[in-house]
Amino acid sequence: MKTVSISHLGQHIGEEVAVNGWLHAKRSSGKILFLQIRDGSGFVQAVMVRSEVPDGVFAEVSALTQESSLRIAGIVKTDERAHSGVEMQATALEIVQLSHDYPITPKEHGVDFLMDHRHLWIRAPRQRSILKIRAEIIRAIRSFLDDREFTQVDSPILTPSSCEGTTNLFHTKYFDEDAYLTQSGQLYMEAAAMALGRVYSFGPTFRAEKSKTRRHLIEFWMIEPEMAFTTHEESLQIQEELIAYVIAHVLEHCAQELRTLDRDTEKLARIAAPFPRISYDEAVAMLQKSGHEIAWGDDFGAPHESEIAAQFEQPVFVERYPTALKAFYMKPDPDRPEVVLCADLLAPEGYGEIIGGSQRIDNAELLFQRFEEHQLPADAYSWYLDLRKYGSAPHSGFGLGLERTVAWICGLEHVRETIPFPRLLYRLYP
Ligand code: 4AD
Ligand code: MG
Repeated sequence: MKTVSISHLGQHIGEEVAVNGWLHAKRSSGKILFLQIRDGSGFVQAVMVRSEVPDGVFAEVSALTQESSLRIAGIVKTDERAHSGVEMQATALEIVQLSHDYPITPKEHGVDFLMDHRHLWIRAPRQRSILKIRAEIIRAIRSFLDDREFTQVDSPILTPSSCEGTTNLFHTKYFDEDAYLTQSGQLYMEAAAMALGRVYSFGPTFRAEKSKTRRHLIEFWMIEPEMAFTTHEESLQIQEELIAYVIAHVLEHCAQELRTLDRDTEKLARIAAPFPRISYDEAVAMLQKSGHEIAWGDDFGAPHESEIAAQFEQPVFVERYPTALKAFYMKPDPDRPEVVLCADLLAPEGYGEIIGGSQRIDNAELLFQRFEEHQLPADAYSWYLDLRKYGSAPHSGFGLGLERTVAWICGLEHVRETIPFPRLLYRLYP
């Protein structure tokens, strides 16, 4: 008998096929068993009628427990009421392993309990939907960039120096040397952009941030495009087109998952480039007007970002932050060196900064001066300085935080559900 995945059952109406999967839930009305089967590709209801299966089978299946693995055979029927549009009329069932006392029951569980059982929790329909959407977001980002002549280049995870400040570095030994887990692949992407023009890296990044918020992970994934001969403004255009493309892709390919998550897709469907742009100065004025105690030169916290974002239906770029607030490599605005040619993209609905980007310093003297101001060891960065000595060119790039983007698109309270196995402050298990 042919084995098919649940997502393909619709192509086998009227046929008898088999499905390999797990029992998600079960209901019985005496002579009939309703089995909710999942196989990763989807969920389907199988109906088993006592009089239609061999003696003994019905009793055995009646005793089937949640998350038991199984192989079920049945005839595929259309069912308008079902999510999947189909139902199986069971003809046989083979138990692969009987599961006992599955810890995650249909009752409500606390977050800590669920996080301790993350290896099992990911089987739940909501969690499965989030991981599916995460994968589709990655696919969309890659196809957007690949179609626009970007080359994927991998950056190292073990690094000798910092990219985003020295306060949240993860330290480790590299034999006799000191090393750090990467905070960002950007500096390597700048080298790669001078070799390949348009590049991007996609990989895990690490920040030993002692902040316990709903937006921070210790290990998170970043997509970091870097573009030679590209200005700050041109980079913003790529960013807004990328986000609009990703949203459209997810709406098209993940309708069922978004429904499972009860996501209000109207709000997503309205997202369209170009996005509004405001300056840091305007953002500060906006915050002061709405009663926030903030002065020019202060950094924004989560409440500030939410307040700014709430003024817009679209994601909003906040441009030209004070030079003193931002990383050493950002290019000062030639007309106003106290601010840099950078932008943070704030997602709507309070999801905060999903992209940080800038034009980079392309002048060797200024970059060297920045090493001194930021007390960075120039020898560790001498390769990076070389990029400004041998054919320096204006270039820009950005980092898109995958998990915050997933949280926004899925409409989640907390980033901990956006990654299969979150590394959080005080959580390394499982
Ligand atoms: O703004 P960040 O720190 O920028 C950089 O690392 C640049 N080097 C990127 C570049 O220009 N190539 O981080 C970029 C994005 C943020 O906008 C945010 O979405 C995400 O990464 N991010 C985090 N996501 C989850 N947990 C954390 N602790 C994060 N820190 C940053
Ligand atoms: Mg940032």
